[in-house]
Amino acid sequence: MKKITIQICLLLVFAFVVFFGGSALVHHTQEDKFCSVCHEWMDPMVSAYHNDVHGGASKHGFKAKCVDCHLPHDGYVGYIFKKAANGASEVTYMLFNDAKDKAWQENRKNRDKFTYDSGCLSCHKTILDINSSNQNIDDMHALYAKFKDDSTQKMNCVTCHKNVGHKNLGKILYEIKHPPVGDW
Ligand code: HEC
Ligand code: HEC
Ligand code: HEC
Ligand code: HEC
Repeated sequence: MKKITIQICLLLVFAFVVFFGGSALVHHTQEDKFCSVCHEWMDPMVSAYHNDVHGGASKHGFKAKCVDCHLPHDGYVGYIFKKAANGASEVTYMLFNDAKDKAWQENRKNRDKFTYDSGCLSCHKTILDINSSNQNIDDMHALYAKFKDDSTQKMNCVTCHKNVGHKNLGKILYEIKHPPVGDW
């Protein structure tokens, strides 16, 4: 696996160099296939995504892209910079570490750092304005509006919606590290 890792990396380093020059690559690198090159084999993020309503497991045929949630959507420049920075740091990480060993379970606590409310709101545009039939939901979203810019107890969409995008991710990650013992 190690050798394949390095080959993939070299290919991707090359891709990211060209990336700065070509808008075709910008387009290409926002496709799920691109993200899945790495995230499919090193972790279960892709399969957990396919089991979620955001990943195609909805009866309405709807699917969000990886970058819809994992890149900021409040400006094109920010989007491109974040994307290039992520690309560079993820490729560098793979050159020096075995990404399969990353503490993915613990890393989930950082979800507010690698998901973006502006991404959620690019689809759920009116969620904070509409009066849903459920008072509880309205109250929760009013709470969000109040604390979204608070410096000490800042609230994000994923403060409450912790697992959107990847169904049962915590359970799957747990079971990788703690396989069932079977009969004994
Ligand atoms: C070159 C292989 C590679 C590709 C391609 C790739 N990733 Fe990653 N990704 C990684 C590695 C390795 C890590 C863990 C190291 C790190 O956090 O930098 C990671 C971490 C992440 C994280 C967690 C970030 C964090 O701060 O903990 C997210 C979210 C993510 N990737 C999303 C994506 C998305 C979306 C795409 C497609 C635009 C993508 N990745 C493409 C290798 C890759
Ligand atoms: C609807 C929004 C959404 C979409 C679409 C989405 N994600 Fe995520 N992603 C999240 C959230 C929220 C988390 C934290 C989930 C959790 O902890 O259960 C996360 C976590 C991650 C992580 C870090 C997991 C860890 O254990 O550290 C990676 C890597 C990742 N996503 C990659 C992807 C890739 C690749 C795709 C596309 C195939 C994708 N995501 C699609 C919202 C999304
Ligand atoms: C590309 C558009 C898009 C993006 C980005 C997106 N969503 Fe959604 N989301 C949808 C659609 C469409 C549905 C309804 C899916 C269905 O039920 O068929 C939905 C459903 C939901 C639901 C109700 C279903 C459930 O899983 O409980 C919640 C909550 C939700 N989204 C929160 C979020 C959050 C939080 C983010 C950002 C991390 C986000 N969404 C990003 C389009 C999107
Ligand atoms: C303080 C907690 C909290 C925060 C923060 C929050 N929500 Fe919610 N949201 C809820 C609860 C509770 C529900 C109802 C149960 C559920 O669907 O998960 C809900 C429901 C939803 C639904 C489904 C609506 C429906 O009528 O079924 C969507 C979509 C959604 N939220 C999107 C978002 C987005 C986007 C953000 C960030 C801009 C956000 N939420 C921030 C608590 C919160």
